[in-house]
Amino acid sequence: MLSICSSMISSPSPPPPSSAAGTTRSIPGSYGFPLLGPLKDRLDYFWFQGQDKFFRSRMEAHKSPVFRANMPPTFPFFFGIDPRIVAVLDCDSFSSLFDPALIDKRNVLVGSYMPSLNFTGDIRVGVYLDTTEPGHAAVKKFSLDLLRRSSAVWFSSFESNLSRMLSTIESELGQNSSSNFFVPLQKCIFSFLCKSIIGVEPSVSSEVGDSGFVMLDKWLALQLLPTVSAQALPQPFAEIFLHSFPFPFFLVARDYKKLYNFVAKHGAEVVSIAEEYGLTKDEAIHNILFVLGFNAFGGFTVFLPALITTIGRDKTGLKQRLREEVRSHIKSEKGVVGFEELKGMELVWSTVYEVLRLNPPVPLQFGRAREDFELNSRGARYPVKKGELLCGYQPIVMRDPTVFDRADEFVADRFVGEEGKRLLNYLFWSNGPETGTPTVQNKQCAAKDHVVATACFMLAEIFRRYDDYECGDGMDFTKLEKATNTAAAVPGGVK
Ligand code: HEM
Repeated sequence: MLSICSSMISSPSPPPPSSAAGTTRSIPGSYGFPLLGPLKDRLDYFWFQGQDKFFRSRMEAHKSPVFRANMPPTFPFFFGIDPRIVAVLDCDSFSSLFDPALIDKRNVLVGSYMPSLNFTGDIRVGVYLDTTEPGHAAVKKFSLDLLRRSSAVWFSSFESNLSRMLSTIESELGQNSSSNFFVPLQKCIFSFLCKSIIGVEPSVSSEVGDSGFVMLDKWLALQLLPTVSAQALPQPFAEIFLHSFPFPFFLVARDYKKLYNFVAKHGAEVVSIAEEYGLTKDEAIHNILFVLGFNAFGGFTVFLPALITTIGRDKTGLKQRLREEVRSHIKSEKGVVGFEELKGMELVWSTVYEVLRLNPPVPLQFGRAREDFELNSRGARYPVKKGELLCGYQPIVMRDPTVFDRADEFVADRFVGEEGKRLLNYLFWSNGPETGTPTVQNKQCAAKDHVVATACFMLAEIFRRYDDYECGDGMDFTKLEKATNTAAAVPGGVK
């Protein structure tokens, strides 16, 4: 399957360029007075402006996509965290984050703040390791191997869980005017990832089977709440209770232990593969849990709802075009979506890329300058000092008007054809260009190709089964119209 992805994106063009011949500028912006500057920026970021306006207004004020600012979490109870960052908000400056010669990725997954190591069994799991640290290569190789081995069950397991989810939604829509899909989707994601990554159905343990996904939600929330805007509480309560102090691990320690024991008991085979790469049993289990729970479950939980709702709310005729493309590529009498068929669905792939461009599931990326260097951006060069923390905010970077025409618009076929393939050099959701390859030498998402192929497969399956669907304003289906074409309506799976 994944050779499909590679052939879909093989592009004649080189990786993102640097157009750096221009003048040298000092980086605009200031950090303000100690404590007050970070506090003001924090309140702007979470409350008065919000993430998007925070970055956009400063970019406009400084007339530069590169500038200095403070990033939360900060003051008062986040000790030892330096909030100062250099924002990089165009494709050129952002792509320096992918250069391991310039950038150190040690402990900067979510910025200067790092959740307590208690959340990961007191070890620094792979995502927190820089490429120069020996442990990184071991974990990355293991992750890549794990994904390669899981390919046999990845799509069949996804298909059967997707089928279950859609049946739940269908029957709820039979009784109500809308059906919220968030919980069924989370169950689907958790279950297929358990099978693909650990090798067992979560239902082998009734506790993990029933509420494993909720355990992961809580574990993720406690780590990430200090860094994300929360709708759960109105201001100023969100500032006081969610963004002022790190949350302690003990609140989820029992659940984490259950998940740990689940992997130890049922994932013995995958643990032994990790041991072949030099990880101890304990390191293996914490790394497996992190890849499963944080990278994979967390990533899909953000991305797939964006994909479903973007298309479900479209009023431009995109659904009809997708349906026609999917149906026209299904050659088999059984009507199931096969790998070769998926390969030809150019609009499906392009739509998935466009959703990733406008809704990058991991919006922020960080990296620390290894040495002094000059950062390139739109023809200017900005001197960066060793140790400074660069922060890229993808929702703005992916709307760089010097790269993308009608950059703010959703253009479903943007990535179709030769010009479309060239633009994949500038699609950065995976912490690297879409034309790049995850290796031990870089920090690009190990599952870059799996993620896109899974999303394409989901879209194709939906349009194989249904003539139409619609979403409301939340994460809900308001219409799911079964395919009238009998060949398409036959339940199937991966050939
Ligand atoms: C929609 C789903 C996903 C998204 C959006 C996503 C995104 C990302 C991003 C942005 C990074 C880089 C983080 C950084 O260093 O700044 C990353 C790293 C990583 N991802 Fe993914 N990911 C997804 C799914 C997965 C899955 C399914 C797996 C494996 C099963 C996976 C494994 C990894 C690993 C191992 C790394 C660390 C790479 C390294 O340390 O070199 N990801 N991912």
